[in-house]
Amino acid sequence: MVAAIIGGTGMYAIKDLDLHEETISTPYGAVPIRRNDDLVFLNRHGPNHSAPPHKVNYRANIKALAQLGVKRVCATFAVGAINPDFALKVPVILDDFIDFSSGREHTFFDTMKNGVGDVDVSVPFCPVLSNVLEKEVRALGLTVRRGGVYASTNGPRFESPAEIRAYRTLGADVVGMTLCPELPLALEQGMSYAGLAFSINWGAGMTPTIELVHDDIDDIKTNMLRAMINTLAATRDDQCTPARIL
Ligand code: HPA
Repeated sequence: MVAAIIGGTGMYAIKDLDLHEETISTPYGAVPIRRNDDLVFLNRHGPNHSAPPHKVNYRANIKALAQLGVKRVCATFAVGAINPDFALKVPVILDDFIDFSSGREHTFFDTMKNGVGDVDVSVPFCPVLSNVLEKEVRALGLTVRRGGVYASTNGPRFESPAEIRAYRTLGADVVGMTLCPELPLALEQGMSYAGLAFSINWGAGMTPTIELVHDDIDDIKTNMLRAMINTLAATRDDQCTPARIL
């Protein structure tokens, strides 16, 4: 039973784990990964962060995991906080999203060859994985926020202050550029997915200029990765309920 971690910005390596490199060929392109028998680690943005958010080959990434038999995914995201009650540097376990991205290959259900289907995203993030993840993050001594709505924008530019106010009015808590289409594609492939976001700035207009946090975050990031490894080790595929394809 193999499960996957998708590492976002700043989460490029897993220390203390013996992983070998492999390149997986998919109909959408080749995907470099690192893995052992239980765990696949995928850098979302590719080697050396070579793909900006709007150029990430999301379908190839998710297809590569599917071909390896992955059914459970924990993914990290560097985000901006737009809910003033949130705090920077406090990991958030995501529970919903709004998709503002555009112009991306966002589905596998686009040819008769792949079949047609509408994935039900009523429960976008797996409650079982999210529960265990919360416990594992806390067990490592980190504060964690349970529940957050991710506004997924196109990037690579940051937002305008009015956009941030609009997203907040619509119910978003954090903003980032990569959850969509990654999450819906994973659900289309029958995977269960938990998301752990990490706020590195306040949204545009909430501070005079965007200031990215760089200090004192290495330990938090290491522990976030550890918590995801522990979560995947403590769960099994058959405990999770994949999204339905209608
Ligand atoms: N906006 C969009 N994406 C981001 C941000 C932001 O403020 N911070 C980190 N990723």
